Amino acid sequence: MSFDENLQIKSFVNYKKAYQESLKNPEKFWDKVANHFIWKSKWNKTLTWDFKKPEVKWFEGGKLNITENCLDRHLEKQPNKDAIIWEPNDPNEESRHITYKQLYLKVCQFANVLKNNGIKKGDRVCIYMPMIPELTVAMLACARIGAIHSIVFAGFSSEAIASRINDATCKILITANNYYRGRKSVELKAICDQALKNTPSIETVIVYRRTVNPTPMKEGRDKFWFDELQKVPTQNEAEEMDSEDPLFILYTSGSTGKPKGMVHTTGGYLIGTAFSFQNVFQPSKNDIYWCSADIGWITGHSYIVYGPLAAGVTTVMFEGVPSYPDYNRFWEIIEKYKITQFYTAPTAIRALAKQSITHVEKHDLSSLKVLGSVGEPINEEAWHWFNDNIGKGNCPIVDTWWQTETGSIMISPLAGITATRPTFATLPLPGVQPALMNEDGKEIEFNNQKAEGILTIKAPWPAIARTVWGDHERYKNTYFSTYKGKYFTGDAAYRDASGNYRITGRVDDVIIVSGHNLGTAPIENAINEHEKVAESAIVGFPHEVKGKSLYAFVILYHEEDASEELKEEIKKQVANVIGPIAKPERIQFVPELPKTRSGKIMRRILRKIAAHKTDDLGDISTLENDDIVKKIIDKAILD
Ligand code: WTA
Repeated sequence: MSFDENLQIKSFVNYKKAYQESLKNPEKFWDKVANHFIWKSKWNKTLTWDFKKPEVKWFEGGKLNITENCLDRHLEKQPNKDAIIWEPNDPNEESRHITYKQLYLKVCQFANVLKNNGIKKGDRVCIYMPMIPELTVAMLACARIGAIHSIVFAGFSSEAIASRINDATCKILITANNYYRGRKSVELKAICDQALKNTPSIETVIVYRRTVNPTPMKEGRDKFWFDELQKVPTQNEAEEMDSEDPLFILYTSGSTGKPKGMVHTTGGYLIGTAFSFQNVFQPSKNDIYWCSADIGWITGHSYIVYGPLAAGVTTVMFEGVPSYPDYNRFWEIIEKYKITQFYTAPTAIRALAKQSITHVEKHDLSSLKVLGSVGEPINEEAWHWFNDNIGKGNCPIVDTWWQTETGSIMISPLAGITATRPTFATLPLPGVQPALMNEDGKEIEFNNQKAEGILTIKAPWPAIARTVWGDHERYKNTYFSTYKGKYFTGDAAYRDASGNYRITGRVDDVIIVSGHNLGTAPIENAINEHEKVAESAIVGFPHEVKGKSLYAFVILYHEEDASEELKEEIKKQVANVIGPIAKPERIQFVPELPKTRSGKIMRRILRKIAAHKTDDLGDISTLENDDIVKKIIDKAILD
């Protein structure tokens, strides 16, 4: 079997049927889906689970290799179809078309490079690369030999890389010398060299030469990608993996400064991403699908690489940014490749909507069939702008709610099948059982009435992350202890009388800025590391394009140190420790922070101050120091 259109649900009646089936008998439902794929040997138990422990196992005893499902199985029917179309940052550089056969050979060969460098099944491999096809080759090569990839977004700082490498004790680092993002040159190798001073587990660094710029290399440790390829053949037998063997680790923000490495496993992740991709985007044989996310995030893992390749679809990878060389770029790409499904983020939509509409009007976007949104709630104006100007009212918008932890899309319309509604992610995919919880921690049963509450999930789906790398206790505490027996999402949601969900936002310490999840604790830690800073608190405030932006309240040891220069130093410090995406936009020096008697910072109040909504501060009687609130308000930074 090659192109899997037959995995697709084709009508709303069938969606309802599939949904009911998946609830009544999940084992039977997922057996049927999993049978579409290549297994080296079949599983003997479809599902074992206990959210109290917590433990989840899918397709136990089954053996497979995910790359055989993403590559080998397409070789017979569509070897010459483009697997990847790559659009470089610079529109004058040539794009690349890589067929399924070519990608297969590249992956096999690089798998041999990894083996040749001593990498074995179960070893961790850190990948820190720009959006180039070699990033996909590297990740699939890991999967080919059973090594666990840990991709670090190329916008992260050297400290962030080092902490991720050390957390998973990665043996090898794969990177590029440098690349251009818009007009900016990013010295990836130099950033790695900084990180490598504190990463004792790394034995080898493989460097892809993306540009002709000089590359500092360390004798004995650093090797060029191209040189390594010369040493190995292109044949590689895929490693036999257990369905529950880890496929990758991907870090996400949490409530402490330590990165939280979500572990995804092989069988369930393949089935979950492939099934959801097919059904949400409804691709057909000759479609050209483009997801504008970065592979450094879960969206790129699941819906640039694994989902589309498992489906045998052509997936577009874009190295650059929407504003370079100008704001025509996205529309140019859609026109150039005749993109059929375009999956992007609300922050990008808002940024593009602010530009002159002539950018859009100059381009023929008639190839588009489906539009997608992910990463944060999409506001009504952005939804309509996307629908009217890009979809021309003809393309269903799939507003897909999911998370790094869920691995695959959870709540979303199926394109052309589920009725869409602005700002609503609508209905759960088959196999997904959402539940809203009220303030007493009880489930609000669905009885055709509107409701609002905390979003949880009642039962496992195939692509759920199985643990936090090296810290199962943290996995349990973060996701399974707030509501006994349920998966806690960290989001709140509204449900209408027909059962459609609208995600209203995070209820924990995560702030989403331009679609990036940022934990308040790691940023506060970074600020507090500055020698002049005693304490700090970070909150989000509404921002027209980014959705949310960061506001830092900072206490200095000596108030007289307060200055604009110090604010810049603090921003730089955050960029160095975490990455430029985490820089606070506003910094206010304060003498104290509002705290409860038990010493907890009252972020609720700080959030209101940052958003200039101070007429209704709610109950502040529990504050230890309520007089501070007025002082902070008086000096709050306004627009
Ligand atoms: C938010 C991204 C509203 C949500 C795939 C979630 C959304 C967090 C949507 C996960 C959506 C994602 N509507 N909110 N369609 N999609 N979110 O781990 O708060 O980077 O918990 O995964 O993004 O972000 P993550």
